[in-house]
Amino acid sequence: MNLQMRPSKCFLYETMSRALSEITSGVGVDVASGNLKNRWMFKTELYVGIDINETRLRSGLKTHPTPDTVAAVADLRVMDAFPTGAATAVVSTNTLHHIDRTNRVSVVESLVRMTAPGGVLFCTTPLDTAFPGVLAALERSFDDVKCVYYRNVFSRAYEELLAPPGRAERGAIAATKPFRLLAWVVSRLEHLTKNRPAGCTFAFILCRRKSSPASESFSLSHLPRLDERLYDARRPPPSLVASVRPPG
Ligand SMILES: C[S@@+](CC[C@H](N)C(=O)[O-])C[C@H]1O[C@@H](n2cnc3c(N)ncnc32)[C@H](O)[C@@H]1O
Repeated sequence: MNLQMRPSKCFLYETMSRALSEITSGVGVDVASGNLKNRWMFKTELYVGIDINETRLRSGLKTHPTPDTVAAVADLRVMDAFPTGAATAVVSTNTLHHIDRTNRVSVVESLVRMTAPGGVLFCTTPLDTAFPGVLAALERSFDDVKCVYYRNVFSRAYEELLAPPGRAERGAIAATKPFRLLAWVVSRLEHLTKNRPAGCTFAFILCRRKSSPASESFSLSHLPRLDERLYDARRPPPSLVASVRPPG
């Protein structure tokens, strides 16, 4: 039983961990992984956490000290340093809504680029005006695209009342075991609405490629290291590169 403070998170992590449990080979890439808190869901041979926040990555690497866990500091809007078609699972959850709507499709396209033939891409995205573009980009690239809708009216009411962002005192109640159990009970209602976007505010999109020719091997060895298992995949923005190019 996955006990979270928010019913929508209980539902999401339960759905995601079930989907990820089937992917046991190759490399799993967790884009905007934060402190690697979703590491436990990945059953791939190697896990790569990517985030812009180096401190969170370092903290996650401390919690997961084994060589099958590595991380890279990068901005998910500039992920050209990562290999093409080499990750068996590419996942990005609870993050795309932080990206400007105009940039969201290009971020999703880089997740698509990194996914191996025969691999899977799982991401969450808000049901806002950028959603049709995100979905169309995924449908162009994958044989099988399935949306699971979540954060329904019951979850939102619970979260508004007991776990609103920025209201620490109410969050403290929601963090207690009895309320986490209550959140789990409310999350059962997400199963009633998961096939319909109406009334939900987020989609968890599960994409699979059927074709599985030999894929590229995943390597970060071309990147500078910040630590034994921490790579630096930050790239200067193209405008900056252009402005420092020598004249002539
Ligand atoms: C809400 S957390 C999500 C963590 C985790 N994926 C989850 O499902 O709980 C959002 C993460 O996105 C990262 N982030 C925000 N903007 C980013 C960017 N432009 N590039 C890379 N990471 C970014 C933040 O540092 C933070 O760790």
